[in-house]
Amino acid sequence: MLTGVRYSGHGHGTMHPVTDTIHLIDTHAHLGSAAFDADRAEAIARATAVGVTRIIEIGYDLASSRAAVELAAQHPEIYAVVGVQPNHVAGLPSGWLDQVRELAAQPKVVAIGEIGLDYYWNAAPAELQETCFRAQLHLARELALPVVIHSRDARDDTVRVLRDAARGQPGIMHSFSGDWEYARVCLDIGFHLSFSGPVTFPKAADLHDVARRAPLDRILTETDSPYLAPHPFRGRRNEPAHVRLIVERIALLRDLPLNDLAAAVWRNAELLLRL
Ligand code: NI
Repeated sequence: MLTGVRYSGHGHGTMHPVTDTIHLIDTHAHLGSAAFDADRAEAIARATAVGVTRIIEIGYDLASSRAAVELAAQHPEIYAVVGVQPNHVAGLPSGWLDQVRELAAQPKVVAIGEIGLDYYWNAAPAELQETCFRAQLHLARELALPVVIHSRDARDDTVRVLRDAARGQPGIMHSFSGDWEYARVCLDIGFHLSFSGPVTFPKAADLHDVARRAPLDRILTETDSPYLAPHPFRGRRNEPAHVRLIVERIALLRDLPLNDLAAAVWRNAELLLRL
């Protein structure tokens, strides 16, 4: 277990007992992935053992969203996010949005996601991606839930849609990658920036700059397991326990004690996701 300075509850939601343990959060994982079929329970236990006491399991289509709700029901430390990711919007059944709405009403669902635009894979026409993105932003607003945004090679259109349809809505730029200029735009929309493995890469100068300059109350940490393993595990399967390496890197970049950064990220996640 990591040990460190004592801190107690944050005066909102559930109170945490005063403890010597650092609490870390992985705000984006796909433990339902087949990559964890052989050792899912062990991966969750390894996370808990290094202080990762909250894991947000993210759906990317209807089946994985349903699985996320089920995983959250089985594990006290896991919460769920439900939605359809842009690589999975082709061929959705009619009534898909109602299915997302029903899943969002299940216990421990804390946000709608991951949703957005992906022009790297282009698995669906851009127009269909945007229609589904907007429909789910609208649903999240209706349900007063935050959104988790996936954007790949689609920065300008993502910003255009978010400025138009999500201003004032709470949200997370999942696995933020980009420079300070892009970060400022996302922060201006009102969103949090969630840092993943790439912030630990020695040559990620733009991302290091963003991690230094972003307001402390707008930073989150995630693994995107099983993808995006941090240094020195780059290229290997990622898992929630590795979020510790991301927290350590950001603390170093900001010249902050690990405990202080971890506590701030925890508080940010609690407030945003109402954990
Ligand atoms: Ni993801």
